[in-house]
Amino acid sequence: MITFYIVLLIFSTNLIVFGSPGDNHYLYRACLNHCKQINCSTPLGLKEFEVKQTFFEYIFQWSCPDECSYECMWKTVNQMISNGQSVVQFHGKWPFVRLFGVQEPASTLFSILNLLSNYLFGYRVLRRYLRYGVHPLYSMWIVFCFISMNAWIWSTIFHTRDKPLTEIFDYIGAISLVFAQFACCLIRVGYRTKYMRLAKLATLFLFCFFIYHAYYLLFIKMDFGYNMTINIIVGLFNVICWLLWSIYHFMSGKVYVWRCALSVVLTMIFVALELADFPPIGWTIDAHSLWHFSTIFLPILWYRFVVDDSRYLLLHSK
Ligand SMILES: *[C@@H]1O[C@H](CO)[C@@H](O)[C@H](O)[C@H]1NC(C)=O
Ligand SMILES: [Zn+2]
Repeated sequence: MITFYIVLLIFSTNLIVFGSPGDNHYLYRACLNHCKQINCSTPLGLKEFEVKQTFFEYIFQWSCPDECSYECMWKTVNQMISNGQSVVQFHGKWPFVRLFGVQEPASTLFSILNLLSNYLFGYRVLRRYLRYGVHPLYSMWIVFCFISMNAWIWSTIFHTRDKPLTEIFDYIGAISLVFAQFACCLIRVGYRTKYMRLAKLATLFLFCFFIYHAYYLLFIKMDFGYNMTINIIVGLFNVICWLLWSIYHFMSGKVYVWRCALSVVLTMIFVALELADFPPIGWTIDAHSLWHFSTIFLPILWYRFVVDDSRYLLLHSK
């Protein structure tokens, strides 16, 4: 498992180091320069751009230079294909076909479905089967569910329109989820033991660290490598925590924890999908979108486990 994460770490930093050969392609550079100078800097060119722009492209803020990048990217890609060359990335992303002004339609759709899944199988299920003030840890899981839904909202926004700020919020949302799930594990482990105060203290520390991390990404430096490292380290602690906890309780007869363990193991397997970095199928489905697709089903397992666990705690309260 640890090896798995180390491989992940190496791969992800490699992806960053190698960057995007597409932006440096002579055809792309020449096309972009020409387009920005001719189309976006003359009244006639701008007029033409405005006339051509669709309603959705307008509301999703495709500016004239953005439009130039998109047009020139496809010009370059088509040239590469007709020359029999392999297609490369541009600005760190594979070329995607835009749909109704949505930059990455597959990832956007799957993000929305994740949001929906967390609402239906998370929030609704918690509200239906558990009661505030009755079931233990109810509030914690509601908060966790909101953190998840928040992350998927930012993911939807980012994949709709990839801009530096939406990207940072997507990253902050994703990492908030990892921090939150780990904090939930610490609280769950400490619950009704003499270590509860320690677990709360650790959660407070995680919260402060998360705030610092978000502040750092937003106001000091958008550091992909650093963000990835923190993600993997906290993710590793999270996985180990839930797996050890599940195994311990499974052995002592709480069979229902299998859904927790399965959910964590599946997440790890799905993360591996991201390692397979291939050009998008039909210029739409890439590894990242498949990773978003695969997580749609996890809330069904996870919140079923949460409900079972909370009921177990209620039944076995002193
Ligand atoms: C720039 O102008 C050319 C020629 O009129 C046109 O084909 C192209 O679509 C324009 N690009 C943008 C981004 O407006
Ligand atoms: Zn994403």
